Amino acid sequence: MKKFINASIYGVPESSEILIENDRFKAIGHHLPDADEVIDLEGRFVLPPYVDPHLHLDYIFSGLGEGNANVSGTLFEGIQRWSDNKKSLTEEMVRERAIKGIQKELSKGVQYIRTHVDITDPHLTGMKALVKLREELKDIVTLQLVAFPQEGFFRYEGAEDLMDRALEMGADVAGGIPHFEISYEQGVESLKRIVDMAIKYNAMIDIHCDENDDPNSRFLEVLNALVMEKNYGPYTTASHTCSFGSVENSYANKMLGLFRESQINFISCPTENAHLQGRGDTYPKRRGLTRVKELLNNGNHVAFAQDSIADYWYPLGNGNMMNILDNGIHLAHYTHIDELHKAFDLITYHGANIMRVHDDYGIEAGKPANFIVLDARDSYEAIRERAEVLASVRNGDYLFKREPRKNEVEIDFLKQ
Ligand code: FE2
Repeated sequence: MKKFINASIYGVPESSEILIENDRFKAIGHHLPDADEVIDLEGRFVLPPYVDPHLHLDYIFSGLGEGNANVSGTLFEGIQRWSDNKKSLTEEMVRERAIKGIQKELSKGVQYIRTHVDITDPHLTGMKALVKLREELKDIVTLQLVAFPQEGFFRYEGAEDLMDRALEMGADVAGGIPHFEISYEQGVESLKRIVDMAIKYNAMIDIHCDENDDPNSRFLEVLNALVMEKNYGPYTTASHTCSFGSVENSYANKMLGLFRESQINFISCPTENAHLQGRGDTYPKRRGLTRVKELLNNGNHVAFAQDSIADYWYPLGNGNMMNILDNGIHLAHYTHIDELHKAFDLITYHGANIMRVHDDYGIEAGKPANFIVLDARDSYEAIRERAEVLASVRNGDYLFKREPRKNEVEIDFLKQ
C-alpha cells in the first residue's frame, strides 16, 4: 500500500491523507493505517486529473510551417485549408500527430481526452489510426472518439454512410456541424439523423453547434428539442454555442429553462473562440464565448476545452488546461472568490460528467487512483499563481513527477 500525507484535497477539505492499494483508492481521511511507502505532499493541492473534452488530435500541428497559416483567422478558411491538406493524410501521420498531442496534454496533468476525428474522408484514415491508439494507450490516457463530419453531414457526399461506418468501428460519440450545412433545413435534418444514429449505436452526441456570432443561428434550440424528446440530454453536448453569447436576453432565458429540463451539456473553448469569433466586429468586439456563467448557475455541466493545438484553426495551444481555465474564467467573468473556489470543476468534474466517466472519476475510496498534484495550497492560490502540475498519478503509479521550480541564482534582497 501507498500513502500520501499532508494533501490539500479539492472538494474534500476535511481529509489530508490518501491511501492506495494496488490501482485504487483504499481510503481518504485522517490518520489512515500505515503503508509500505509514505509520500509527504507538504500541504500541496491534489485534485482529480484534468479533463480535456474537446480536442482535434488528427489536425494537431497541421498549421505549422511555411504557407500553412490561416490568413483570415476564420473557421471557414480553416475548414478549406484542412480539406486541401487531408488528401495526402496517412494513418502513420495521424498516429504521430496524435501521440505528440497526447504527450503534451499528459505532461500537463490531463488524463481524459475526447477527440473529434474527421470522418469526411473515404478511407476513414484518422478514425482507423485513433481506434488503435485508444486501445494501445488506455493505461495512461482515457481517449474518447467522436465521429465528426468536418465538411458537413450533407455537404460532403457520402458523410452519412461514413459516419455509420465510424460508429460501427467503435467511435464513442456522434458529431455534427449543422451551421456548416448549406441551408437551415439541411442543418436541422443533419441533427435529426445524427441523433437517431447515435441512439441506434448507443453512442453519446457532441455537436459543433452554432460556432458563429450570428444570434439567429438556432441549431442549439433544435438539438436541445430533439434530445429532450428522447431523454438523451445527459448524453448530449453542445460544443462552442458561441452565438448563444449573442442572443437577446428574453430568448436566452426561455432557452435556459429548457436546458435545465433536458440537462444537455456544454463545452466552451475560450482561447480558440476568442481567436476565431468577433472577426466581423469592429467595436465592441465579441468574446466568442457562450453564456458560461448562466449555464453553470442553471445547473448544466459546462466544461472548458483546448480544441486545437497549432492547426489551421488556431496557431497556439499546448494542452495546458490551466491556461484554458485562466482565459475562460476571465472571459466569462467567473472570478468572484466563491466562483474561484469551484472553478476547477470546469476542467475536471464537469468534463468527466460530460464524457460519462464520472463513476470511475474523483478522489473517493474504491475508484481508480488517478490524481494530480499542483504546486499550490488550494484552488484559489492555484488559479492565481497558475500553478504547475508537479505530479500525475494513474492507477496508483506516477505518470510523471517533477520538482517545484527553483531559481538557479537568487536575487539577494528577495531571499527570506
Ligand atoms: Fe472543435
